[in-house]
Amino acid sequence: MKVDLAVIGGTGVYKADMLEQVKDVEVETPYGKVNLIAGFYKGRSVAFLARHGKGHSVPPHLVNYRANIMALKKLGAKRVIATAAVGSLNEKMGPKDFVIVDQFLDFTKSRPQTFFEGGPQGVLHVDVTDPYCREVRQFLLQKARELNFRVHDGGSYVCTEGPRFETPAEIKMFKVLGGDLVGMTSVPEVVLAREAGLCYATVAMVTNFAAGISPDPLTHGEVLQVMNELSANISQLIMTVLET
Ligand code: HPA
Repeated sequence: MKVDLAVIGGTGVYKADMLEQVKDVEVETPYGKVNLIAGFYKGRSVAFLARHGKGHSVPPHLVNYRANIMALKKLGAKRVIATAAVGSLNEKMGPKDFVIVDQFLDFTKSRPQTFFEGGPQGVLHVDVTDPYCREVRQFLLQKARELNFRVHDGGSYVCTEGPRFETPAEIKMFKVLGGDLVGMTSVPEVVLAREAGLCYATVAMVTNFAAGISPDPLTHGEVLQVMNELSANISQLIMTVLET
């Protein structure tokens, strides 16, 4: 099976109900097997991959990012839309806002970051001046605006190692460094997509103000609850983009 486009569903986005003729697909890669679903939306073939696996069983630092991206590449996907639940460091980007991310700051610690580890694959220093694909970003932005969502054009995503949330001191530091949003998965996913030549963009959804900005402690349950409230909007945005 070949697909035109892929959706990587992050926290709170575990299914793609809009797809028809859905099939479970298992893709073998040198990094391991990947299970995803493939189906059709208005005649277009689409793959859907739940980043955290069935029942959100894989934490962010253990996601097999290389296998996931290689599986999408093997299926023929040219464009990838990834969703991400994020905390906000920027007062202008409040809970339930959508942000079409345009930059990242990498604070991950222990993740394989490349397909190119020397040897037969060689060495690659990939350019990430525009880490997120301009074309898919523009689609997402335009469609989100047409749907009257609160959406921001651009934002710097700080990627932490997790799985713990941040300390208020870390959040203060990230803010000084120019971060707008904080999450745990965009790196290395975006970098690997770039290495694989996929046109990849992320739609981030703010679920909370980050630690220390919000006076209350943060829970995963709270993140899930806001994502649940946003799920109809996310599906609508994805469907509108798939129609284009
Ligand atoms: N920090 C890290 N990841 C997150 C957050 C946060 O505040 N909210 C949702 N994902």
